[in-house]
Amino acid sequence: MRKKLLVGNWKMNKTPEEAKAFALSSKELVDYALAHDIDVGVAPTFVCLQTVVENANKKMIIAAQNVNEHDHGAYTGEISIPMLKAVGISWVILGHSERREYNNETSEACNLKIKALLASDMTPLYCCGESLEIFEKGETKEFVEKQIRAGFAGLNAEEAKKVVIAYEPIWAIGTGKSATKEIAEDTIAFIRGVLASLFGEEAAEEIRILYGGSVKPGNVAEYMSQKDIDGALVGGASLEVESYHQLIEGMIK
Ligand code: PGA
Repeated sequence: MRKKLLVGNWKMNKTPEEAKAFALSSKELVDYALAHDIDVGVAPTFVCLQTVVENANKKMIIAAQNVNEHDHGAYTGEISIPMLKAVGISWVILGHSERREYNNETSEACNLKIKALLASDMTPLYCCGESLEIFEKGETKEFVEKQIRAGFAGLNAEEAKKVVIAYEPIWAIGTGKSATKEIAEDTIAFIRGVLASLFGEEAAEEIRILYGGSVKPGNVAEYMSQKDIDGALVGGASLEVESYHQLIEGMIK
């Protein structure tokens, strides 16, 4: 049985002070979500990670939005796995479409990071998803399959089980144009099929796959009603505690 999961992707939002305020005021909410069998987390910017770790409920998942696969060295502007671990971080989002677009993050680069994270007992949250053009051409599955195969290349089933996936159609991110629950389920069920062919049915049944793209308190329940959708990666609607609370309520329904 896969446990439900809500992760707020804060992107480039919030000062440390604002992040701390969220961490403090979401403390009880985390216990409330866990009491309903929902794991919850947020992904603050690097400069906010430490204050969120220090002030949030200890059971809240706190994810970085990127990492470098090297431990240290001449990589200006980068942050390593040991640095994240030193501030208490054990989850990292990888391959978000914004990083793929603006920072040239490829599935192959994500694969190196996924392997490095798994070797350090950390959890990668690997994002995939197609552009509007690909969606309209009807090539979503082919495209997403390539992202999954490249991201998971070289992993065995035990390792694959530790990765969490977020399927986020780019045309639905921040646009208010969320994918219908049927479209989301169809692609996510397809991804689970690809995982089954790579790692076997048992592993594929254990891997959590989230939907992301304009998820709001008003539509999250629809996604959660789908067989293969295990939760949500939420941008805009995760920034305020009240809305985050409403997302949890929607997931409980
Ligand atoms: P959104 O972003 O919820 O604001 O559409 C989702 C994401 O990019 O992860």
